[in-house]
Amino acid sequence: MGVIVTIVRMAQNHKVSVAKYLESRWGSSSMLMHGKEVDLVEIEGFVAFNGEEIAGCITFEIIGFECEIWSLNSEYREQGHGRRLTNKVIDEARNRGCKIVRVFTSNDNVVALLFYQRCGFDMVAVHHNAMDKSRKINPLIPEIGFFQIPLKHEIEFEYKL
Ligand SMILES: CC(C)(COP(=O)(O)OP(=O)(O)OC[C@H]1O[C@@H](n2cnc3c(N)ncnc32)[C@H](O)[C@@H]1OP(=O)(O)O)[C@@H](O)C(=O)NCCC(=O)NCCS
Repeated sequence: MGVIVTIVRMAQNHKVSVAKYLESRWGSSSMLMHGKEVDLVEIEGFVAFNGEEIAGCITFEIIGFECEIWSLNSEYREQGHGRRLTNKVIDEARNRGCKIVRVFTSNDNVVALLFYQRCGFDMVAVHHNAMDKSRKINPLIPEIGFFQIPLKHEIEFEYKL
């Protein structure tokens, strides 16, 4: 039987533990994409809990008619939790009048490429060598990513509402 998780909106009192969790997963609780850096616990989010333990998290920003997902993590893989977190953001964006949900991922993140397409997102652009631009802002971004794939490009997906 799969793990049961409860999803709640990220609140002020979650921020310390969510920041630690994100640091443990990404090496930092801020994220740099398309030349913009965001502190993930200072934007909106939903957190999945398995009891007291964080089982996943999604963070996003709504600006005008656009919603951008900035991070997504799911601990208990392939049990639908990542999709549920993503759907929470899609519903939120729709209810707040957005026209689109956008997400960027890197070329090495093969599982994310698979996941977002399974969740109905369309691959709309490859930002070739976008990581070079990001490394000018943060030189600590590694050269090699998942599966020993050179970390070079940003892939943009969108979900039309
Ligand atoms: C990407 C991630 C969030 C997916 O979370 P998850 O809880 O495993 O996803 P779900 O169980 O909701 O899967 C949704 C769909 O994707 C498919 N999927 C997810 N991971 C898969 C994998 N490794 N292999 C094959 N299919 C996969 C599922 O089978 C499911 O398909 P279906 O429902 O259409 O049959 C998770 O792998 C993760 O945290 N990865 C590390 C962080 C990351 O890369 N985040 C995304 C970039 S921001």
